[in-house]
Amino acid sequence: MNLFHHILVPLDGSPHATKALKVALDLARLTNARVEAIHVIDMAQVRQIAHLLNKSVEQVRGELKNKALSILCDADCLARQAGMELATHVAEGIPYEVIVDYADKQGVDLIVIGRIGTRGPRRILIGSVTERILEAARCDVLVVR
Ligand SMILES: Nc1ncnc2c1ncn2[C@@H]1O[C@H](COP(=O)(O)OP(=O)(O)OP(=O)(O)O)[C@@H](O)[C@H]1O
Ligand SMILES: [Mg+2]
Repeated sequence: MNLFHHILVPLDGSPHATKALKVALDLARLTNARVEAIHVIDMAQVRQIAHLLNKSVEQVRGELKNKALSILCDADCLARQAGMELATHVAEGIPYEVIVDYADKQGVDLIVIGRIGTRGPRRILIGSVTERILEAARCDVLVVR
C-alpha cells in the first residue's frame, strides 16, 4: 500500500507524543512510508525561562537543545526496536508554524501528532500546538488519543 509516502511526527517528550510515534511507525510499515520526527525548540519559551531564572538566552537555548536531542535519541531507539528507520530534525521558532512549514517544504503527506502534550489540556480537549496544526497544515493530520 502506498497511501502515504512521508510521515512527520512532532515530538515534545510527552507520553502522548510517544504514542503518536508508535502509531506512525505502524502506519509507515503498512504504507512503506518514510517517517521523520521533529522537535521544535520554542523560542518564546526560551526567552521566558531565561527571564524567570535570570539566565542568558543562549544558556537556556543550549539546555533545551540538549533536551531536544535526548527526545529524538529516545525516539530513534524506539524505532530501531520496532525494526524501522527514523529520520530526525531539530528546529527553532514557533512550534506549529515551524512544523507546518517544514511539512510543506519536505513534501510530507501526513502529520501524526498527540492530542495533548507535556502541559496537559488547559483547554477542553486538545493542546494548542495540535489545534493550530489542524488549522494550518495543508496535508492530512492524524491526532492520536
Ligand atoms: N515543541 C514541540 N515540538 C514538536 N512537537 C510538539 C511540540 N509541542 C507539542 N508538540 C506536539 O503536539 C502534541 C500536543 O501538544 P500541545 O503542546 O499542543 O499540548 P499541551 O502541551 O498539552 O498544551 P499546551 O497547548 O499548553 O502546550 C504533542 O503530543 C506533540 O506531538
Ligand atoms: Mg505543549
